[in-house]
Amino acid sequence: MRFKLKLCSAMWLCLAASSGAAAVRAADAPVIASSTKAVSWDEHSLMINGHREFIWSGEFHPFRLPDTNAWRDVYRKMKASGFNTVALYFNWGYHSPAPGAYDFTGIRDMDLAIRMAEEEGLYVIVRPGPYINAEVSRGGFPGYLARQTGVARTMAPDYLKEADDWLTHINAIIARHQISRGGKVILYQVENELFDTSDEHRRYMDHLIKKARADGIDVPLFHNSPNSLPNWVPQGSETYYTVAAPGLDLYAFDGYPGGSCNEKGEVGAHNPAPNNGIYSTTQPQIGSLASPKTPGFAAEYGAGWFDYWGSVGNYECNAKRLGPGYVRTFYGANIINRVTIHNIYMAFGGTSWGWMPASVVYTSYDYGAPISETRQLRDKAYTLKQLGQFTQAAEPLLTHMDKAEPLYPTSDKVKLYHNAGPAGHLVFAIHEPHDGMGDDAFKFRLTTKAGSYLIPQQGTLRLKGQDAKLLLADYGLERQKLVYTTSDLQTHLQQGATDIALLYGRVGEDGETVLRFKTKPKVEVIEGLATTVYDAKTGDLRLNYQHKGLIRLRITGDAAPLLLLIGEDAETQKFWRQETDKGPVLQRTSAIVKGAVWDGERLNLTGEGQTAEAIEVWATAKTLTFNGTPLDAHSTASGSLLTSYLAEPKAVVLPDLMAAQWTIRWDSREADPAFDDSAWRVADLKVSAATVPTQPPPGQPVLAMSDYGFHQGDVWYRGRLTARTTQKKLELTYGGGAVGLVQVWIDGRFVGQNELPGGFTYPKIPTVGKASFDVDLKPGTHQISVMVRNMSHNWDLFANEEHKEGRGLISASLSPDETQRFTTPITWKIQGQGETMDPVRGTFNNGGLYGERKGWHLPDARPDGWTPANVTAAPPAPGTYWLRTAFKLDLPKDVDTQLALVFGDPTQTKTDRHTRVLIFVNGWHAGNYVSNVGPQNTFVIPPAFLNPNGANTIALAVTTDGKPGNALEGVKLVDMRQAR
Ligand code: GAL
Repeated sequence: MRFKLKLCSAMWLCLAASSGAAAVRAADAPVIASSTKAVSWDEHSLMINGHREFIWSGEFHPFRLPDTNAWRDVYRKMKASGFNTVALYFNWGYHSPAPGAYDFTGIRDMDLAIRMAEEEGLYVIVRPGPYINAEVSRGGFPGYLARQTGVARTMAPDYLKEADDWLTHINAIIARHQISRGGKVILYQVENELFDTSDEHRRYMDHLIKKARADGIDVPLFHNSPNSLPNWVPQGSETYYTVAAPGLDLYAFDGYPGGSCNEKGEVGAHNPAPNNGIYSTTQPQIGSLASPKTPGFAAEYGAGWFDYWGSVGNYECNAKRLGPGYVRTFYGANIINRVTIHNIYMAFGGTSWGWMPASVVYTSYDYGAPISETRQLRDKAYTLKQLGQFTQAAEPLLTHMDKAEPLYPTSDKVKLYHNAGPAGHLVFAIHEPHDGMGDDAFKFRLTTKAGSYLIPQQGTLRLKGQDAKLLLADYGLERQKLVYTTSDLQTHLQQGATDIALLYGRVGEDGETVLRFKTKPKVEVIEGLATTVYDAKTGDLRLNYQHKGLIRLRITGDAAPLLLLIGEDAETQKFWRQETDKGPVLQRTSAIVKGAVWDGERLNLTGEGQTAEAIEVWATAKTLTFNGTPLDAHSTASGSLLTSYLAEPKAVVLPDLMAAQWTIRWDSREADPAFDDSAWRVADLKVSAATVPTQPPPGQPVLAMSDYGFHQGDVWYRGRLTARTTQKKLELTYGGGAVGLVQVWIDGRFVGQNELPGGFTYPKIPTVGKASFDVDLKPGTHQISVMVRNMSHNWDLFANEEHKEGRGLISASLSPDETQRFTTPITWKIQGQGETMDPVRGTFNNGGLYGERKGWHLPDARPDGWTPANVTAAPPAPGTYWLRTAFKLDLPKDVDTQLALVFGDPTQTKTDRHTRVLIFVNGWHAGNYVSNVGPQNTFVIPPAFLNPNGANTIALAVTTDGKPGNALEGVKLVDMRQAR
């Protein structure tokens, strides 16, 4: 991570500078017995039920997709994109509103989240914390931890009591899904990125490890060491620099070396892909060499980056920066470095709806991930599919290879890495240095079982721009002998008598593939251009071609007939593969094929398409269906079935919200001196659990909201005071998280407001602010009302209690002059959203606005008290008002329609308007809009928030200083994506 590198640069850089030879790897290290027979490992790979597996995984957070049907969609898209594993964080605070209270129902059903992944054929890596970071408020800790005095992530008894309770609950769910019990959970992460390896943290880690085992967790345990640091290795691997944790089975590291777009929204210069495994040359070894007896394991490897309040809106840019070229170079480097457990963060980012986001992010957590927030596959998802299919097809080679003799390219601008194992050779070609962007042609000599070759023999092999190639030699391509190829392999399979192989390369680049035969094979070019040369002496059949379109060759030799498909990226990226009862099947289409299930001789395909498209299918099927619709198909010369075109989904008609009838209702009642606060809690605590800088000053009561059990969103304070002299200055210290807000009224008159900025600066975005107001309070009694909007609690990235930084008011001082020497005491009462929750929408849904406390956001809110309004009319007064409308939807059935709400002009990331909106859709808090900060003004609505065929409501809680120029801009309902 960029900011973490800065932090530990002293140590990290000095370690990296003292370079030395790569550590000697124990070549024939024995297989280490796992705690369960189901999952074992050696230094090469994990073995699941004795079978070596390449774990190609992507991260998904069920809590960021509050729609259980959509979970399945994401899993299926991940599977279709070549992943065989999903890694899940579990967010403690999402399930637990109060000590001892847990909820795993509805969208919080984590048993279902795991079960669905299993049903979709994915292995599961679980990451239950207790701390998870994940850019969620308090890093996943529940609100009530912010009122504990014991230090979190240590052996402090109050912390451990609650942490153990959480683990007892979540471990019970996880345990029954372990592979050893017939499920698909294969690995369990203990805690998250503990930078500090103090004795206290070691004891804590030991406690969590023992707790997991006591709760019946029998799969291997690991910790994700931040920044590829060599810590938390299994016992026996520790070195002078390395801390071991007895009881951990595997070592894993996290790395975000790809960086992110700059603050201007530019891709910027690419970073070099590091060697995080067997080719690491730093001392001590970073990445997987820190633990030479366990498989290379990237617990998190960047697949995008999060974005911050006030940015220029970098998700699309991050998706480009960490795009196809990044995937090939960085993940390719991991593959050659033998990182055989590879989890990318995130596969799908989703939405930090409600009060979920930490201060470092806004509502959208799109992340620039391969699957966008609207569940669209981005370009790099297709590159990932090519690599994912490769890791599965070439699994025997990739999961059992070692460094082989060095190869010397003819260009010093190219670097070759060479591994070999029982299943063949793998050559990784990348620029030298690794961030090179040139157009570099090269040749190299490789000795294979079939002889020694200067490759390529004809045409040009090149690396152009951000690119890398994973090339095979001496490889068993089903029943064929592949001598070598300068194309990348995507997949291969057998269908009855025929072998099928799919190779790819950059459009227009030359390729050369050599296959070995005993006798001269027959070569038919079905489509495209390729030249063939057969050398009767050696038996080599050499194919030369350009990667252009899709070349189809049928080669009939002494083994099985081979259908060889060679394409440019765009063509082979249209290939989908599934494993069925009758063996693997293959399709070519620009639709997404998510599943293939046999019904007798009929193959039922499921998936989604957005435009009209045909499907070509390789399967021994008599008939085909797609999403239940029978398809007309005819056979082709390639041995496939080609279907008729699928119809495009029809455009949906959405209501025009600007033309809808809206009603308005005033909220900030607490500003009225006559407001009845008799039932409110007196702020009388003397000691706060907040961190030191946010403790109350001597003599003042604790005001921080969390000490009173109010944790998120809006919190109100009402104070009473008697002034003996005229008071001129009111100073407030308040905690609001990034983009927090305070509004103040005295005796019913608005005094002013103060806003915390957005931004992403290290070490910390200002999350606590000082607000100073000039007042003129005559001697006598006065009433003061303060609303603080707590946008978020900090995370606890460095285990330094940052999440306990005070929120709400921290202190208030009213005085006759600037010196603040003589302050007038104020007695305060406090009100907010307590440690309860909406039983359906959960604990992050609401804060403590008056209207929220009264249920005005809910679809069944009573109509009385609301009057007709114009959405864009000037605010009635400073404070918060609600706007509400009802509308009907009639979305086409069987079409996945992803809607969003757009405020103002979606092409602008911020405006001059100081307008904030809490967005409620049928009572669900879909997100927070802050017009003057941005960048987000398009809010993806999780489909389950809407009634697709019937009545819906939108309620907007709009907060301003009352100036007409801060009125709400227009709001629209838009269609982001449709798939049938
Ligand atoms: C990692 C952390 C994750 C997430 C990620 C950045 O360091 O483990 O939880 O915060 O960084 O998105």
